[in-house]
Amino acid sequence: MSRMIVNDTEIQNADIFEIILENFPDIIHSINENGDIVFTNRAAQTLLGYSRAELLSMNIRQLYAPDILEAVEAGFTDLKSKGDKRVESVLASKTGERIPVEIRSFSIYDDAGNFLRTFSILRDIRKIKVLEDNLIHASRLAAIGELASGVAHDINNPLTIVLLSNELLMRSLKELDGATPDQIERSTHFAADVQKAAEAIQKLADHLRNFSRGTAEAHEELDMAAVLSDALFMTASKVKRSRTDVVCDIPKEQYHIVGSPNRLEQVFVNLIANACDALEDQADAELVIDIASAEHDGVACWECRIADNGPGIPEEHLGDIFNSFFTTKPKGKGTGLGLSISRGIARDHKGDITVETSPENGTTFSVFLPCSNG
Ligand SMILES: Nc1ncnc2c1ncn2[C@@H]1O[C@H](COP(=O)(O)OP(=O)(O)OP(=O)(O)O)[C@@H](O)[C@H]1O
Ligand SMILES: [Mg+2]
Repeated sequence: MSRMIVNDTEIQNADIFEIILENFPDIIHSINENGDIVFTNRAAQTLLGYSRAELLSMNIRQLYAPDILEAVEAGFTDLKSKGDKRVESVLASKTGERIPVEIRSFSIYDDAGNFLRTFSILRDIRKIKVLEDNLIHASRLAAIGELASGVAHDINNPLTIVLLSNELLMRSLKELDGATPDQIERSTHFAADVQKAAEAIQKLADHLRNFSRGTAEAHEELDMAAVLSDALFMTASKVKRSRTDVVCDIPKEQYHIVGSPNRLEQVFVNLIANACDALEDQADAELVIDIASAEHDGVACWECRIADNGPGIPEEHLGDIFNSFFTTKPKGKGTGLGLSISRGIARDHKGDITVETSPENGTTFSVFLPCSNG
């Protein structure tokens, strides 16, 4: 909001309350018995787009979204008799934009108890509403995570039966009377396929169950490449859907770190998922992942670089991407929590996450985690 410029003498001569009311960041207005606006301040003009003269010739009912006028009418009647009220409502600006507000109002009366005026403070709560929506979405995602863990558990039981029965089937196939060796070989082949597919489902179900457990385990000795490989396993179907080529040729058992496997996997899952989102619909989508030794803040670390050849992050967003709830994804797709949580996890492990980006070279996120002596 623009500042009101006054000099010292003006402050002394002016009514100090007038200055406060005029410059208050929330809308302050007063209305009479009919609902006509008899006092308003600068915030009302800024927020609603009307001039002071326009506001002072308007009725309060003209400031609200048309679909809630009935509630406004009831609220006004209530306020005149009750004296004070705190509600949430929706204003409509001159251009028709809906602005959710929190309103605190009180009425004043004459000595005989007749209603004179109400005074109200209206606070713009658009940002709070967005945060609330995001929080609800985040908690829904958390609930889905829990459900997934339950589903994984339920899949596991019938799958154990499938695997056991299949093994028995494979054994009895060999002893089958009257079948030609060719028939036996073909049947054994089918059974082996069933075995492989069921084992893959079991691995995924197990993994999903562990991943969605959510709680941080105690820190343990880990191999960064193994954590990364688990994260690639979890994101495999997303990677496939985005038609991204993953180049990741990292030997295991070399990159010793200490940490919580679940939490660190969450970091890599988010970075890979972000890259896939950025690469969606791109013809030559590629994700190159490597690990190298690096020093970060004077500490010997393993640096895992996750580099996509996507469109890059616009300069104006770069300062915001690690902030909670910053997202450029459509509603229902991103909560904007991924990077802030990931950086928090990396820092909890005495590491960090940094980013380099440009429209020409795409985006590279680096995860630094201190080397452990094994
Ligand atoms: N590899 C990338 N390329 C381009 N932009 C990216 C990349 N990674 C992150 N971003 C930008 O950073 C924003 C914040 O990412 P973050 O992971 O915190 O949240 P999100 O992916 O939008 O939502 P969530 O992770 O909660 O589902 C993204 O919305 C996107 O604009
Ligand atoms: Mg994300």
